[in-house]
Amino acid sequence: MSVKGKKIILAVTGSIAAYKTPQLVRLLIKAGAEVRVLATKAALDFVSPLSLSTVAKHAVLSDVSDGANWNNHVELGLWADAMVIAPCSANSLGKLANGLCDNIVSAVYLSARCPVFIAPAMDEDMWQHPSTRANLERVRSYGNHIIPVAHGELASGLVGEGRMAEPENIVAHLATALNEDLPLKGLKALVTAGPTYERLDPVRFIGNFSTGKMGIAIADALGAAGADVTLVLGPTHEKASHSRVHTIKIESANQLYRECTHIFPLSDIAVLAAAVADYRPMEMAAEKIKKAGEGMTLDLSKTEDTLMSLGKIKQPHQTLIGFALETNNELENGFKKLGAKNADMIVLNSLKDEGAGFGHDTNKITLLTRDGGAESLPLLSKKEAAVAIVNSILKLRHAEKTA
Ligand code: CTP
Repeated sequence: MSVKGKKIILAVTGSIAAYKTPQLVRLLIKAGAEVRVLATKAALDFVSPLSLSTVAKHAVLSDVSDGANWNNHVELGLWADAMVIAPCSANSLGKLANGLCDNIVSAVYLSARCPVFIAPAMDEDMWQHPSTRANLERVRSYGNHIIPVAHGELASGLVGEGRMAEPENIVAHLATALNEDLPLKGLKALVTAGPTYERLDPVRFIGNFSTGKMGIAIADALGAAGADVTLVLGPTHEKASHSRVHTIKIESANQLYRECTHIFPLSDIAVLAAAVADYRPMEMAAEKIKKAGEGMTLDLSKTEDTLMSLGKIKQPHQTLIGFALETNNELENGFKKLGAKNADMIVLNSLKDEGAGFGHDTNKITLLTRDGGAESLPLLSKKEAAVAIVNSILKLRHAEKTA
């Protein structure tokens, strides 16, 4: 998959990451794309127009008119197969979300009929600000593609989320999205995510701290790879964003089990990332349980193990992936789970790793496969980890086909 022969507008806005854009232009051209570059005035504080025009082999447009000539933004918008706004600053994102049109980038964006890719770049606090979150959701709802930010060192010296995706990753993202033959096109995937709540009485439950972020990122990554995804999601405020992800909300382990056993026979891939309760109260009290005595004992019974059940009915064309969250003897326990539940791969999380597990935006995972493979990945954002998991699924399915 490549961007060969594609006409691409690169729009650079005012963020320190603009210094990486000559490299991005170079990679696009090397891959066979034709590139025109736009830059806002603020962008030119961070990157010189001469560097950009030299690598693009075309003048950089930074204004709707240069005094004597009007730069036809409508024509440019129609010329392109794709527009990439990279880096997209918080300010520019706000303009795109609200339809403002006060520079060449916003004018071309509003005129463009081609797919638009946005690679945000900003400091973590700006990235986490509710207005940025809302703007991002808004531009996504207009059908634009968001290229996930990376986790790492930021211009402020802080470490966190908000770095522009690396130029190589932007090119890879474009190549995938612009090519019709997405690797999972026509396939169906089932993903579980989030916690489960097991009701004790009308106001209490047994639950866990899972936010569902990892499973949701996997659902989005499978959608981006072309699969039609059903996400069975426990109680959380997090949401999937890819248009090919259809979400079914559930609350308990039993509801998760029922949905999954119904959907799995029609699925090609299943990734069970939910943190499912292993036990539920034997009885749910009809009225609120009153306080009485100094202690209390709860009688619990085992929930259905969905991964285990799906493992039993798995067909040769299906790929089944489970998760394991371990605190000791991680590898040994992970491999045991792989065998016992008849999964094709187990994504192992260790709570011993800093930055991994519930609630974090990062994860440190090891991918265990049936051939005894244990691939340890570095600390990644959950979105990057999700892409790595999807790539491993592709490899597993490819190996299966050619075996
Ligand atoms: N899982 C499931 N249904 C359950 C419990 C777990 O589908 N009732 C799935 C999880 O989604 C995960 C995998 O099984 O993909 C492993 O879950 P985990 O809780 O780590 O393992 P358990 O088998 O429950 O074993 P233990 O809690 O003893 O480690």
